[in-house]
Amino acid sequence: MRAHPADPYAVTATAYDLFSMSVRAEQVAALEALLPHIDTQEGPILDIGAGSGSNTTYLLEHSPEVRVLALEPSASMRSLLLSKIAAHPEWFPRVTVRPEDFFSITLPQHVAGAVLLGVFGHFDPGERAALLAELANRLPVGGGAVVDLQYPERPERIEPYEFTVAQVGELSYRGIAQGWPVDDEQMRWEMTYLTLEGERILIEDTATYVYRHPAPDTVRAEAAAVGLTLGRIGNSSYWLLTR
Ligand SMILES: C[S@@+](CC[C@H](N)C(=O)[O-])C[C@H]1O[C@@H](n2cnc3c(N)ncnc32)[C@H](O)[C@@H]1O
Repeated sequence: MRAHPADPYAVTATAYDLFSMSVRAEQVAALEALLPHIDTQEGPILDIGAGSGSNTTYLLEHSPEVRVLALEPSASMRSLLLSKIAAHPEWFPRVTVRPEDFFSITLPQHVAGAVLLGVFGHFDPGERAALLAELANRLPVGGGAVVDLQYPERPERIEPYEFTVAQVGELSYRGIAQGWPVDDEQMRWEMTYLTLEGERILIEDTATYVYRHPAPDTVRAEAAAVGLTLGRIGNSSYWLLTR
């Protein structure tokens, strides 16, 4: 096990796109639900906690008028994102990648929309209220943001389960997650990331973090307080916030 105390996402970033493959189709469906709410004349799309950049690059690829302001404080995640962008110089005028977290940057006055995937649980109730207010102040009427409220909807013990397996050439990549309730909103998650040659473990990394699982009704009320409406996308754990 390796420790990277300075960058909480360093372990997760070692093979992030492989370890997040199991949620990718749902993320893409959520981005597709967001795009009709985007008027690119209104400003950039804010990708908060852009991670390895899969969502930023999806938007740049699928909507030629879109501009993206991606925020990613983790150096290891940001380097994955910048590698994807470096392969597309034609995108350079349309994307900015900032190393600050959400509350450390001066936001543009107007944004066309926002992406909050895999990140909302990092904000406590006070921060959520502030974040939602900042979005509501900047989105146009009809504009939207996509957010995932990750399962379980209420904190509970989650027994270990395998969440992804990818075979790449001779090696396989396997992720195992388990979680414990901390209080009525927070959970402690332990994520184990394995790189295997057959059954032989070449790398075993573990990351532990606390993540919030606010109930949809709680978020709905927090959103309504600033004039945003929360609507579920299909019966998934992905939601649209619209103004
Ligand atoms: C689980 S990853 C999700 C990455 C990407 N959005 C995705 O869906 O694949 C969460 C990311 O949020 C970032 N993050 C955590 N707190 C943040 C904050 N306050 N502001 C901006 N980003 C933050 C982390 O550095 C991490 O890369």
